[in-house]
Amino acid sequence: MILMNNFKSEPAALREDMLAAAQRVLESGWYVLGKEVEHFEAAWAGTCRVSHAIGVGNGIDAIEIALRALNIGPGDEVITTPMTAFATVLAIYRAGAIPVLADIEADTALLSLDSVERCVTQQTKAVLLVHLYGQVCNIASFQQFCEQRGFYLIEDCAQAHLAKSEGRAAGSYGVAGAYSFYPTKNLGAPGDAGMLVTNDADIAAKAGRLRNYGQSVRYHHPELGLNSRLDEIQAAMLTERLKWLEEFTSRRQTIAQAFRDEMNNPSVRLLAAPESKDAHVYHLFVVTCAQRDALQAHLANEGVQTLIHYPVPVHHQEPCLSIQRDPDGLHVSEQHAATCLSLPCHPQMSDTDVQTVIDAVNRFRVA
Ligand SMILES: Cc1ncc(COP(=O)(O)O)c(C=O)c1O
Repeated sequence: MILMNNFKSEPAALREDMLAAAQRVLESGWYVLGKEVEHFEAAWAGTCRVSHAIGVGNGIDAIEIALRALNIGPGDEVITTPMTAFATVLAIYRAGAIPVLADIEADTALLSLDSVERCVTQQTKAVLLVHLYGQVCNIASFQQFCEQRGFYLIEDCAQAHLAKSEGRAAGSYGVAGAYSFYPTKNLGAPGDAGMLVTNDADIAAKAGRLRNYGQSVRYHHPELGLNSRLDEIQAAMLTERLKWLEEFTSRRQTIAQAFRDEMNNPSVRLLAAPESKDAHVYHLFVVTCAQRDALQAHLANEGVQTLIHYPVPVHHQEPCLSIQRDPDGLHVSEQHAATCLSLPCHPQMSDTDVQTVIDAVNRFRVA
């Protein structure tokens, strides 16, 4: 079976460096928020070309902390997409703010600016842009829109490690960016981890307090924070894995290009090509098909695992049935959720695996 991810077939050299990193931490005798975290924070800030990176427990906390660091809370509305991991919207609720859902563009599945405009009210404080599947797109329009309206632009970069547009990296376009290093992400830890990135020193300082009970100096708590500290083992592992990220990302892009060049089944639609090569890091390679379930069954038969990101848009999740949304509806998101399918596209795939996926997709016939 060609899997969606295959950590067991990662290079032996990476495995050895990760084991050495674990040993380094165990021998240091320091396990939470220490030198390994500081080192990885500096490395990730450099990678994203931002001035500050604050390691946190996971991606959802990075979003919540970004919102709270901006004093976005009760009564404030944050516009985002229903076609995302549930965590994006849950983070807004957890910050005490009000999520408002705008629809997406059919060709990218990314937030539609026209729909965002329809969601604006007197209470709007921020747009939470999700770089879904690893794509950064139409950034200048969102920046300009937020600037003109006085809204914060916050980026959910959980799927967009190393994605760049016009020479700048995901997380550096808005006032803050939130990364997840969940194992399956393009840069994944063997556990939970996350990072907030920003060029704003005050937000960085506040996030640094919020992740640690709101503590300013030891045992002094000027604000109510949470426990979202990054541990040394995960940071040390991420430092080792970061050394491979460019090579792994480039392999994802090569695989995706082969898919684009050779998939020619008229029943299977590919999403739009990225604005530039760097603007898509292919966390997921997603196609749409009116007979999605039949395509998924066919691919499973041909030895190709697939997943659906996401089968249920946020506004159809039980706690969110009455969530605020575009008054014109969220029809494109609903259509996308009913037809989308994610194909394997990860750095451990061989050329033979890539060809197998292409041939299997091309052989699909509508019953
Ligand atoms: C788009 C998006 N946002 C947020 C998150 C939350 O990250 P985490 O699982 O590390 O909390 C994820 C991860 O699933 C994600 O894909």
